[in-house]
Amino acid sequence: MITARLDSEDDFDGWRAQCRGLLRLGAKPADVVWQIGAQRTDLFANPDSATEALPIAVPKGFAELSRSVICHNDPERFGLLFQLLIDLKAGRRHMGDRADPLLRKLDIMAKTVRRDIHKMRAFVRFRRIEDDGDEHFIAWFEPEHHIVRRNASFFVRRFAGMRWSILTPQLSIYWDKDKLLEGPAARKEDAPSEDAIEAQWKTYYGSTFNPARLKVKAMLKEMPKKYWHNMPETALVSELIQSARNRELAMIEKETTVPVADTLQSLQAEAARCRRCPLFGPATQIVFGEGPQRAKLMFVGEQPGDQEDMQGRPFVGPAGQIFDTALTQAGLDRSQAYVTNAVKHFKFKPEGKRRIHERPNVGEVNHCRWWLKREIEMVQPDLIVALGATAARSLTGRNVAITTIRGNILESEEGVPVLVTIHPSYLLRLPDADKAAQERRNFVADLKQARDRLEKLQIAAT
Ligand code: URA
Repeated sequence: MITARLDSEDDFDGWRAQCRGLLRLGAKPADVVWQIGAQRTDLFANPDSATEALPIAVPKGFAELSRSVICHNDPERFGLLFQLLIDLKAGRRHMGDRADPLLRKLDIMAKTVRRDIHKMRAFVRFRRIEDDGDEHFIAWFEPEHHIVRRNASFFVRRFAGMRWSILTPQLSIYWDKDKLLEGPAARKEDAPSEDAIEAQWKTYYGSTFNPARLKVKAMLKEMPKKYWHNMPETALVSELIQSARNRELAMIEKETTVPVADTLQSLQAEAARCRRCPLFGPATQIVFGEGPQRAKLMFVGEQPGDQEDMQGRPFVGPAGQIFDTALTQAGLDRSQAYVTNAVKHFKFKPEGKRRIHERPNVGEVNHCRWWLKREIEMVQPDLIVALGATAARSLTGRNVAITTIRGNILESEEGVPVLVTIHPSYLLRLPDADKAAQERRNFVADLKQARDRLEKLQIAAT
């Protein structure tokens, strides 16, 4: 038996380092005991050995899969991934093999982890305290998997200007507006349970709660009961559920209009009245997303162009034609996908009779993120394709260089995988015909990757 030690439950780098040693030794998964918490000593760390520093060459998709699976709470995960790694290297398994039971199991584990990451982003509620005369926001959260470190950068980006702590039974993280620090596991009693804004939350939630939309099963699925005790608004839920039927009848009687959109159509109607940034002024109309409410695949572009602004539909101009052709070549059906943009109004500079496209700035993209988020929450796609840098930034909160990152999978702030590719209008601007042809092929290859990934997910879910 060989003991492979890891620093922590989510020690991905440690697991990788140990795998290197185990592979060199020719160890089998059954020979290895994975141990957490004890001081990690890398197996056979031999400074004279060149192979020690070598990265393990792994097939595409393996690194992303293992990064997620490592955060799962199943104690078998290290061994299962090691088994997969050995088999991939020996050519006994292939990442694309959708019928492989081990791959399917690991895919489901990765999906569960991603869902947990999203739940944490959605259900963490901070309570404000005064600490040394300074504001400190503290939240208590109980994740199912080992996702706290993995999620920390999301909270840093989102709440960069606040001093906050998130306490969990696994560990605590603390952001002092400059550095992220880690502390020990906490107990629920360590976090404050009430603060001044609690009452406001409850009033807000009570007033937006729409009894006619009450679907208890769907609600419990999206917001499992175990998170309720952290969320001020849920103190109202059982009371609201009980009185829902009466309130619904009262609403019907009064013919009250429903204030919160619950379909894409009503969301679009709400967005048409958007005044969050000045772009609505010169534009002809809003160009909202279109496609099935439960599409598995979502495409996000930058902003509508001249044609889109006039027709009120995304990707119907010259870039849209390239997009449509590439979709067909990749074997994707546009009518099955949800197609939208990071910014919903056309931004342009008038030049004579022409309207010249202007790139939306960060503020405009951020203002419109509100709508994109709600589209993502309603459609719940399995995969989003970011067409270009603006879409990638809006979805992930990261500035990315498309040339280096294209073809890679990132993650949206909602926890949905995001495949990054070029914007189709880039292909319109290439003067060199050979280069343009090559870039078109690359674009189609990226879209095929999206198709393959979706098919794989579908099989894994059956
Ligand atoms: N470019 C985009 O990003 N979106 C459109 O809808 C059209 C062109």
